[in-house]
Amino acid sequence: MGKNIANTTHTFFFCDGGSCQKAGSEKVIRTARAYLRNNGHWNDTHTIKTRCNGRCEDAPTCIVYPGQNWYKELTPEKITPIVKRHLDNAPLVNSELLYKKGWQEQASDNEIAPIKPKPFELKNDTELGECFITKGFSSDQYLYPLFLYLLENPKGVSLISSDEKRISFQEIISLDYSKTYTLELHTETTAIPFTIAAVPKENKELQQAKISSTEYYFQKETQQKGIRFKNKFGKILGKIEFDSLNNKAWEYCTKIQLQNVHLDFKNHE
Ligand code: FES
Repeated sequence: MGKNIANTTHTFFFCDGGSCQKAGSEKVIRTARAYLRNNGHWNDTHTIKTRCNGRCEDAPTCIVYPGQNWYKELTPEKITPIVKRHLDNAPLVNSELLYKKGWQEQASDNEIAPIKPKPFELKNDTELGECFITKGFSSDQYLYPLFLYLLENPKGVSLISSDEKRISFQEIISLDYSKTYTLELHTETTAIPFTIAAVPKENKELQQAKISSTEYYFQKETQQKGIRFKNKFGKILGKIEFDSLNNKAWEYCTKIQLQNVHLDFKNHE
C-alpha cells in the first residue's frame, strides 16, 4: 500500500545511482529503513531511492527534508545517528554534511574541477582540410538540447547523414526521444536516428551507432561552420552545417554547448 504522505514529517532521499551503489549505498539504505521500522517511524517518514544526485565524488549521498540537508560519504554506522538526530530535531553534525540550507558553499573534500571544452585549434583534418576545431560534449544531456534548439531554430542549418544525404533542418518536424538510446528526427517521410544515450559496453551494434565525439569546426578556406559527430571508432555518423548568413545557431553552440569557448582568429594569424 502506498504511503500516506500527509503523515510524513521527514523524507530521506537516498541516492541509488551507480557511484553510490559502488560506494555501498544499499547497506546504508537498509540500515536506515530497519531503524525507522523498528522504532515506530515507518508511517511518519518516507525513504526514497533516487537516481544520481550529481555528487558522485561524495558517494554515498542522501538528502533529508525538511531543511535541504545533503549528506556525504555515508556508511551504515553513520546513518542511524543521522536519522535519529533529524527525528529528534537535534543539532546536526556539520562535518557529515555536504550542504545545508543557508550555507554559502558546499563542504566537500573531493571536489573535481569541471571539465571544459578546449579552445579551438588550427588543424589539418583529413576530411575537413585546414580548420579550427574543438570537441564539445557528447552525452545526451548536451546532444538532446542541441537537437531541440536546432529544431526550434532551423533557419540556415543543414543535416548531413552518414551516407552524405543533406536535408535542411526546416524539413524536420519533430524529435522523438522516447526510445532508450536513440533520438529520432522526423521529417514528413522518414525518421533519422541518432544514438545519444549511454549504451551498454557489451553491445557492439549500439557502440557503433553511439555519438562519442562531437566536434565543432570552422573550415579556413570555405569559412564553413559545422558540427561533426563520430562514434568511438572514429566513423563519421553525421554532420550539421551552418549557413554563413545565420550565426544564431553557431552562437548558441559556442555559448551553451562549448561553454563560451569562442573562435579566436587573432591567436592564429
Ligand atoms: S551516483 Fe550518487 S551522487 Fe551520483
